[in-house]
Amino acid sequence: MKKVTISDLMKWKQEGRKFATSTAYDASFAQLFESEEMPVLLVGDSLGMVLHGAPDTLPVTIEDIAYHTRCVRAGSPNCLLMADMPFMSYATPEQACDSAAKLMRAGANMVKIEGGDWLVDTVKVLTQRAVPVCAHLGLTPQSVHIFGGFKVQGREQDKAERIVRDAIALQEAGAQIILLECVPRELAARITDICDVPVIGIGAGNATDGQILVMHDMFGISANYMPKFSKNFLAETGDLRKAVAMYKDEVERGTFPSQAHTIA
Ligand code: KIV
Repeated sequence: MKKVTISDLMKWKQEGRKFATSTAYDASFAQLFESEEMPVLLVGDSLGMVLHGAPDTLPVTIEDIAYHTRCVRAGSPNCLLMADMPFMSYATPEQACDSAAKLMRAGANMVKIEGGDWLVDTVKVLTQRAVPVCAHLGLTPQSVHIFGGFKVQGREQDKAERIVRDAIALQEAGAQIILLECVPRELAARITDICDVPVIGIGAGNATDGQILVMHDMFGISANYMPKFSKNFLAETGDLRKAVAMYKDEVERGTFPSQAHTIA
């Protein structure tokens, strides 16, 4: 696979070309994803749940993410590699710089942070210091205790408007990707239309520029839980490599997520 950069994603957005992305946590799967030409990988703090068996992502540390970022980078030298800034690792812009430095030194090309307009200064500070940022909105799992559970966000008009305003503010601050998790399809479609930067969705319908899945959900092997918006591609194909190829193909053709995997 040729090296993938943010310029490729911007070009694909302008061309209306959809792209698939996945989480990854180790070198072997990263290599498999790269051989199937998965352009973007995320070392997600979901590793706290799918690797460590925690009930949420809060126990994950910056050292955990840096370790897995090094592993994934070793397996996939050419993907655009995003790394999650875990809970309380970007509470202030200064702390965000220290945390981002650890992840960029470990091989990340971009960091991902969860939250709305309170992060405008942090995004400005990071991007001015050469750290590309993906802004994660909607169901931001680090806020699970504020939300009272892993719940769909943006169903009410005022909450939807707030997510739209946050996406615009974070893009204006310098965020180069917006990621929307568990929001209604119509809201994700509107934000994808408004934003100049690529919008990646998970549980956000098929109108976004890109899709992401937690790899364990793609293979139907997550402990205890399978989100409604996900699909077990391994059950469909019986083979890991074919499962990845099928997921990628369905995203690129816009057939995944289908209506059955979409939040109204
Ligand atoms: O941590 C993660 O895997 C994520 C994805 C669900 C987008 O943030």
